[in-house]
Amino acid sequence: MAILPILRYPNPQLREMGVPVSKVDDAIRTLVDDMAETMYDAPGVGIAAPQIGKLLRIFIIDIAGDDEPSDLKVFINPEITSLAGSLRWDEGCLSFPGATESIKRAESVTVRATGLDGKQFELEAVGLLAVAIQHENDHLDGVLMIDKLNPLGKRRLSRKVAKESG
Ligand code: NI
Repeated sequence: MAILPILRYPNPQLREMGVPVSKVDDAIRTLVDDMAETMYDAPGVGIAAPQIGKLLRIFIIDIAGDDEPSDLKVFINPEITSLAGSLRWDEGCLSFPGATESIKRAESVTVRATGLDGKQFELEAVGLLAVAIQHENDHLDGVLMIDKLNPLGKRRLSRKVAKESG
């Protein structure tokens, strides 16, 4: 296992499309282990492969609280098949360290994906898990939370990021 460097906005690699995983093999399992170690170290509730420079359609999420056992969910080649309702959630992103933004998302989602065992599964999620799935799935298409903000919010977040990295 290894903790990998997380790419930060505005790194242009964060804008690239993830490629579908053709086979869940040892290389993919090692990558997922490294992603998990990197996410827990950060710490964060989710991370997508493009955030550590791997342009593959994989993200992982663990929304368990500090006092709960870990609950790692692995999504390989995910596809959101339905979205319903709407809500606003204060989101963070490991590629925007220190930033929290109120973002409008669907309240519930259905997602189909392949697991680490190579089998397809379907999951219905609401609330935080639904938000995390939408956020991480966006990373696989090069979409970032800043894209969801209005022009004023985009400028404010860009300035904040520039200040943090300067
Ligand atoms: Ni993110």
